[in-house]
Amino acid sequence: MNPAEIDSTRSQAQGEIDACSDAAALKEIERKYLGKSGVLAGWLTRIPSLPAAERPVLGQAVNRLKKELGEQVAARAAALEKAAAERDATSGTFDPTLPPARLERGTLHPLTTLTREIEDLFVSMGYQVADGPEIETDWNNFQALNIPPDHPARDSQDTFYLKSAGRLVLRTHTSPVQIRSLARLAPPLRVIAPGKVFRHEATDASHEHTFHQLEGLVVDKHVSVAHLIHSMKTLLRGIFRRDLEIRLRPGFFPFVEPGFELDARCPFCENGCSVCKQTRWVELLPCGLVHPNVLSACGVDPEQWSGFAFGLGLSRLVMLRFGINDVRLLLGGDLRFLEQF
Ligand code: DAH
Repeated sequence: MNPAEIDSTRSQAQGEIDACSDAAALKEIERKYLGKSGVLAGWLTRIPSLPAAERPVLGQAVNRLKKELGEQVAARAAALEKAAAERDATSGTFDPTLPPARLERGTLHPLTTLTREIEDLFVSMGYQVADGPEIETDWNNFQALNIPPDHPARDSQDTFYLKSAGRLVLRTHTSPVQIRSLARLAPPLRVIAPGKVFRHEATDASHEHTFHQLEGLVVDKHVSVAHLIHSMKTLLRGIFRRDLEIRLRPGFFPFVEPGFELDARCPFCENGCSVCKQTRWVELLPCGLVHPNVLSACGVDPEQWSGFAFGLGLSRLVMLRFGINDVRLLLGGDLRFLEQF
């Protein structure tokens, strides 16, 4: 350290301060020269070891430079701040009269809305809401439902099999929750089970590999088709807010006997429309009386107990109810779709 070095450092630092155009860079310059381990601090620690004659001169020179640079940094910082404020004011980026940004609020998914409505309805009729896993055993998804290995009914339920030794599947329907409920609860019982199901199939406007169903199961003494019809009419009234005529057609499902397809009068037209394909009927759900083999598989005596079951296509019902024309929208996660609800 000598007077020449102090002078050259002065002009270098001044140049850097003058050229600096943002606050962060200015802090960096300040740190480099005036910081705890900066250039000037280094010099000051060396002063005591200098020859006695040089100490006062150099000590004063370094301290003077420290004061000068400190003032220059402060002046530059003030100038930068002022310039930034002026820029904001004149470029119009800050308008204190604007209202604050709107809080984004989420809404319920239409599937959730309808599921909750239907749950409330069935709970008011004494049903419990049950739940089951989306990964199921072959037994619960098929065998206990009277669908043995190699049964042709397996073909219509294109199944995702897991690569596991235990023959696990992604459940193809919510019917395995019937088996779980029968195993968990002693009859009499009334259960509904909404949930996600999976099918290995090509997707289009009316097919999706992942969709929602709502299963229903009632087991009691002397349960008949009349009970089934009454419950389904109540369900329809709850969903469409009026009485709709229904009809039963025979339908085959291994876990019910007899099995039916239940249709309802088209809620949208008097004389035929695109929803009912001009037939004035819409397919609502498959249902039937619980097959004795299912009860037996769950350790329930079919001589003593009987029941009905139904499998509502929730996704389809949501589409009917909200006028949605493509199932893929339901789980597609497109905000432009979701924000409409
Ligand atoms: N689990 C059937 C399916 O997804 C639908 C079904 C039919 C459920 C009849 C039922 C029923 O409970 O009784 O293909």
